[in-house]
Amino acid sequence: MDGDFVWKSFQPIKKRKTHLDIIGRISFDIVGDIALVDLKAISGLDRKEVADTLLSTLPIRSVFGVGEVSGEFRVAQLVHLGGSRNTLTLHKENKCVFELDVARVYFNPRLATERARVERRISQEGARVILDMFAGAGPFSILIAKMDKTRVVHAIEKNPVACHFLRRNVELNKVSNVIVHEGDVRDILATQKIEADAIIMNLPHTAINFLPLALKCSHPGTLIFLYTISADEPDIQGMERARKVKSYAPGVSIWCVEVRV
Ligand SMILES: C[S@@+](CC[C@H](N)C(=O)[O-])C[C@H]1O[C@@H](n2cnc3c(N)ncnc32)[C@H](O)[C@@H]1O
Repeated sequence: MDGDFVWKSFQPIKKRKTHLDIIGRISFDIVGDIALVDLKAISGLDRKEVADTLLSTLPIRSVFGVGEVSGEFRVAQLVHLGGSRNTLTLHKENKCVFELDVARVYFNPRLATERARVERRISQEGARVILDMFAGAGPFSILIAKMDKTRVVHAIEKNPVACHFLRRNVELNKVSNVIVHEGDVRDILATQKIEADAIIMNLPHTAINFLPLALKCSHPGTLIFLYTISADEPDIQGMERARKVKSYAPGVSIWCVEVRV
């Protein structure tokens, strides 16, 4: 009887240690109620055990493995690892809510602090008209619009699915000061005349190629937040400051470069 009691009372501690071991070893993000696990980081581990551990430890309903993020729409390849297969979720960030489908739209919850920082910079600048050239489901646009409803935010997005969620998130967050433009930024800006006080260019692989287009939507004094990938601090004409946002690969980072026109 006594032996049985001792065995039972030690069992949960043993189990918890295993959970912590697994959670400590893997890299994952939580978007809404979905855990997204870096597939490379769990090679060699039992995928089912990883999923079961996360499902039993965190307030989530699904676990997906994340492979390559590719293509013009920057959508991640997902592999179902456990729980519900539904990829639609509601994510809360910076007092905003974002509905999105993690299998069809780019979204990185690790940029929450960066988005709040950019909003503060826009506030310091007193920018009234803001252009978000690669808006996705709207995490920059909606936060900036919500923090000051007298601002006007132009949000451009090419992925029709991301655009659907962008419109939905405008509604959910009650921000009537976001103007959504669906299409390629080159086509939209060829027909729409937008003169912005601040411009966000969050497309790190290729944003630099769109800088001449951003300059056409600027006036002297416009501040551009250009995201780019580089091993060293970037050197771009008009750069006022550059800040490492996060690591991208060993020795390479994503930078936010502030360019003053
Ligand atoms: C890196 S994601 C950033 C999305 C959003 N700003 C965020 O922080 O979640 C870049 C977005 O730009 C969109 N995109 C890529 N090329 C585009 C283009 N030429 N015109 C408009 N949107 C584009 C992609 O579909 C994607 O949603």
